[in-house]
Amino acid sequence: VAQLNTLAQAAGKKYFGTATDNPELTNAAYVAQLGNTSDFHQLTAANSMKWDATEPSRGTFTFSGGDAIVAQAQAHGQLIRGHNCVWHNQLPSWVTSGGFNNATLLSIVQTHCSTLVGHYKGKIWDVINEPFNDDGTFRDSVFFTTTGTSYISTALRAARAADPAAKLYINDFNIEGTGAKSTAMANLVKQLKAEGVPIDGIGIQTHLIVGEVPSTFQQNLQNFANLGVEVAITELDVRMTLPSTAALLAQQTKDYQTVIAACKAVPACVGVTLWDWTDKFSWVPGTFAGQGAACPWDENFVKKPAYQGIVNGW
Ligand code: XIL
Repeated sequence: VAQLNTLAQAAGKKYFGTATDNPELTNAAYVAQLGNTSDFHQLTAANSMKWDATEPSRGTFTFSGGDAIVAQAQAHGQLIRGHNCVWHNQLPSWVTSGGFNNATLLSIVQTHCSTLVGHYKGKIWDVINEPFNDDGTFRDSVFFTTTGTSYISTALRAARAADPAAKLYINDFNIEGTGAKSTAMANLVKQLKAEGVPIDGIGIQTHLIVGEVPSTFQQNLQNFANLGVEVAITELDVRMTLPSTAALLAQQTKDYQTVIAACKAVPACVGVTLWDWTDKFSWVPGTFAGQGAACPWDENFVKKPAYQGIVNGW
């Protein structure tokens, strides 16, 4: 039977992978599939490498959760996407409410990124997560309001210095199709490159709603690639309003296929990551009321039609 990573690699990609989270690693059946390298050659920690988990108080770093995900991956020769260095969510209050000035906050960003990327060497990193609003303006995070866009170049330079071998990405959502937010991302990457700031890739989260893959998805991947960076689909899921029906599952199957086919068609698209592979551990029901069934495996770890959609896409 054709499997997801086997097919991705046959299509010239580096990996097909999935997010996972520490509490899930106590479920033996889950862990068995997580380590199925015919499906998955890459893992992303859904939470345990975020700022609140790794630097809960200033200068005190805790890597135990992230280390457990890395150990799980290494036991199966899987790659790791570090997620993430700088984001406006899951930030400890000492960062959001510290009242730091520009220089101090930049130094805090520098220390955080270099420590994280230095601890987890040889990885792909979402150095910057979700810097934009949907209209393409910069998000009013504590980082932007205090430093402007300086935090972005500071974080990327710190990451490069900590590990020259790391692949450095900026990752965001609602940049699946062309539009104001994708244009803003492209302009940022252009400017960083013009300034000599290290940037290797654009991560497209791809948290989609059934039936709503943008018609410009492949074109948009190519537009990003034309900037001279890699692209990756970093958090793929396709949610629906529950209950799921045969018709919704059929549309979801097509949607997964469309996304995968677009990555296949764009050589600079290096890989695809699911935002967990099973509905049992999907973030969707907890975040979008009344929605779910977003993953290619159901809550009982049985493959859904969407799995075949991915196979067809490759
Ligand atoms: C989500 C996790 O999956 C949840 O467990 C957590 O409660 C909130 O964050 N975009 C991102 C991810 O970049 O970090 C988010 O992960 C999902 C949206």
